[in-house]
Amino acid sequence: MLNNALPAWKALEHHQQTSPLRTLLDAPNRFGDFSLKIPGLLLDYSRQRVAGDTLALLQNLAKECDVVGWRDRMFAGEKINASENRAVLHTALRRPSNEELFVDGMDVMPGIHDTLDRMKKFTDAVHLGKWKGHTGRPIDTIINIGIGGSDLGPRMVVRALHNYHVKGLTVHFVSNVDGADLYNVLQTANPDTTLFLIASKTFTTLETMANARAAREWAGAHFRDLAAIKQHFVALSTNEKAVREFGISPENMFPFEDWVGGRYSLWSSIGLSIALATGFKVFRQLLEGAHEMDNHFRTAAPEKNAPILLALLGIWNRNFLKSDSLAVLPYSQNLELLPAWLQQADMESNGKHVSRDGETLTHATGPVVFGTSGTNCQHSYFQLIHQGTDIIPCDFIATLKPDHPWPDHHAMLISNMIAQANALATGRDLVASGNDPQRTFDGGRPSTILLLDELDPFNLGQFLALYEHRIFVQGIIWGINSFDQWGVELGKVLAGDLLKILSSPEKSEQNDIVSHIKQSGFR
Ligand code: F6P
Repeated sequence: MLNNALPAWKALEHHQQTSPLRTLLDAPNRFGDFSLKIPGLLLDYSRQRVAGDTLALLQNLAKECDVVGWRDRMFAGEKINASENRAVLHTALRRPSNEELFVDGMDVMPGIHDTLDRMKKFTDAVHLGKWKGHTGRPIDTIINIGIGGSDLGPRMVVRALHNYHVKGLTVHFVSNVDGADLYNVLQTANPDTTLFLIASKTFTTLETMANARAAREWAGAHFRDLAAIKQHFVALSTNEKAVREFGISPENMFPFEDWVGGRYSLWSSIGLSIALATGFKVFRQLLEGAHEMDNHFRTAAPEKNAPILLALLGIWNRNFLKSDSLAVLPYSQNLELLPAWLQQADMESNGKHVSRDGETLTHATGPVVFGTSGTNCQHSYFQLIHQGTDIIPCDFIATLKPDHPWPDHHAMLISNMIAQANALATGRDLVASGNDPQRTFDGGRPSTILLLDELDPFNLGQFLALYEHRIFVQGIIWGINSFDQWGVELGKVLAGDLLKILSSPEKSEQNDIVSHIKQSGFR
């Protein structure tokens, strides 16, 4: 049975939320009743189109979908990723203790902490100049080569923690198979002082392996000795065999397990670039913050549970108010890469049209997620968000404390953010708009404000885990497996076939774009 046949789903369909948002907002204590404060973070969902009875009905839906049961099964290491027959245990990576946790009869905690210890030693050695390049010089440039989850998470966190960067070390990220990505970075790098992190869960991904091979050639050409790459290449992966075949020995490999999904892997050794950019202590604080959110998600009552609440508001907007997209708008320049990370985390997880049992769904699942940093977004697509024909719910994200020394800038930033949220919610009617329909704003456009105390590693970890768990809860309510990604396979197979045609010297007789490119002197 699909979840839209559940009584709670039906009750939500019949639920008429007739009061306009501006009336709801006028209720005494609207902010107090429709906000949640947990240490380090405030959620203000007073501008969502919900009343108390809406939330109660949504909580009923969570109950009928057994969100809490599935949550507990995830944390316990049950194989809830059924289509890949895997546990889902990125949460174990941020558990501080060695308390046992068994998967397939094996306690996974010692392995996690062993890798963390090795990451710490390695990071310290690089920072202290004890890890030297082949010619005896210390490392001053890190190049992370990876794509998808092996790129977006660490890249976003390294960008977000700009104020925590270790001096004297530059960290680059290369992901695209467009050679220009690697080429541009190599122009600025010195092989003697450059360390490559080859980040790939599978160590087979086309883009990453092509870039890794090119980087190995670049280093080999400089040192005239492939053995020299020992000091310049490390691997972050689950695939020891492929890592060895590439020429990286196990002592230069930082492993993780297949129960860490790629898009949930920044907490694993895939986060080595974060530790190198900011220091291991900072990386640990990031893990601690995420663990704090894990504890909150596991223990807080559903009505006061931040991931459950956010997820339910998203379900209300997507399935009952029928909005197709979600704008994620960090009013924080240092969080500018958050939407890119979230796009993979959310859309690769919940962009599914078939239930866990293989049934075709008759309700909507994940929305299109997009966003850029505020206030830049106001000067690009906000016209459509305010007056377009689609209602686009928004997540506004900001920090109480600025990341810079200018309070005036921060006041302008925050007032702009709240102004946008208010304008979307309350609008401006025809009379107030001088009887000019072009200048009216309908209002009733929902948003949530997520306010972090400050953008420190702990809060960031907590905040990212909040989004991860929101995705999880929504996946459970939609009845899908949020942890596989079969939708990316077909394109990969077709690209492999096309590569063979494009690379072969034989003429292609087809009248199509492939032949056109070959005939135009592609090779
Ligand atoms: O895009 C598909 C995908 O499999 C993602 O899920 C993953 O994060 C990315 O490719 C990279 O995979 P890997 O870390 O194995 O190179």
